[in-house]
Amino acid sequence: MPLVNIRDMLNHAYQNGYAIGAFDLVSLDFLEAIISAAEAGSAPVILSLAESHFEYYNFELAMAASEVAARRATVPVAIHLDHGASFESAVHAINLGCNGVMVDASQEDFDGNVSVTQRIVKMAHACGVPVEGELGYVAGVEGEDAEKHPGEVVYTSVEEAQAYLQQTGVDFLAVSIGTVHGRMKGEPALDFERLQEINERLRIPLVIHGGTGLSDEQFRKLIANGVSKINYYTALADTAGARMRSNAVADTRCGYTGIVRGIQDAMREEIARCMKVWGSAGKADAVLDAAEAWRPVQHVIIYNTNGKDDNEVAAMINEGKQVLSEIPGVRRVISGTAVQSGAKYQFTWLIEFVHEKVIDSYRDNPVHVDFADRLFRPVAGDRISIDYLEI
Ligand code: 13P
Repeated sequence: MPLVNIRDMLNHAYQNGYAIGAFDLVSLDFLEAIISAAEAGSAPVILSLAESHFEYYNFELAMAASEVAARRATVPVAIHLDHGASFESAVHAINLGCNGVMVDASQEDFDGNVSVTQRIVKMAHACGVPVEGELGYVAGVEGEDAEKHPGEVVYTSVEEAQAYLQQTGVDFLAVSIGTVHGRMKGEPALDFERLQEINERLRIPLVIHGGTGLSDEQFRKLIANGVSKINYYTALADTAGARMRSNAVADTRCGYTGIVRGIQDAMREEIARCMKVWGSAGKADAVLDAAEAWRPVQHVIIYNTNGKDDNEVAAMINEGKQVLSEIPGVRRVISGTAVQSGAKYQFTWLIEFVHEKVIDSYRDNPVHVDFADRLFRPVAGDRISIDYLEI
């Protein structure tokens, strides 16, 4: 089960002086290239799904595929929401299976960013999910990812970074020190002094957005100054695009499969190169030893309905299915009735939590408390409730 806690993963990278790639995927070709490169290089890896890319694919479908790929991988994998735009996006991503989320409130002023981030951190931590914040602004210059990040670069202030960490409790911080989303124009000048100071004050894993276009030497200096997660996308999109253009030129009559032929290999080569430069190649076993396995909990209730009438029971079940599945940390809500007549308990709720921590936050969640007190407990006097951690 190589889906692991991203906090343990990035802390391992931080403490051992290397960085883990967070590769944004926009199709199954990306997903397969990322996982197979990580497996070939024995590297921990982060599957990154950026909200700014949701117009290119269906998030729910991509999450299902990402989770299957992560669970059957032989290397440790985390699934991360990149550039989450709101509280609701973070809840949705967690409930679909992201075990890390980024809050991007970097367009807000400092106080606005702090208050949006605080709220998400409180919710996510109650689900066991670590949070990446961003302070300063990494703008885009050129290339398809650049369009998603308009405006000018704003460098991260060292003082603000310290205050932001104290006030929000984020687990990782994305810093702006001169990188840009998309392609670089000319040689990027990175402010390593600023990065060094931020690292000395914060002592948490730092994140670089806009990994495309940096030199090996720049990557090494970033990592030496606390960068443990590198976000990387445009170079993969450009590599795939170049291969597709050459396929189309080589055979002007080729269809879809002819056009995309070989793009996984091309991306895999680029991802493997990054993993070597960033030092994550060869670290899979060490991370598997150090990191908590990411395991869901099944909250199981079996109950009888004290002879209540069928309509009352059906109304309770329908409302429960609707409201409980929206509680942060709830992955799915299944309601069932016994197949065997005469079963000791006739009904069940099978509610899957993303993590053990949700047992407490779910119990205290006002939506759950209201449902349980108003509709469920009066109907289901005779019940057994047990939480099971996946083994
Ligand atoms: P690049 O597209 O410049 O590699 O940046 C990716 C990124 O930072 C996604 O969050």
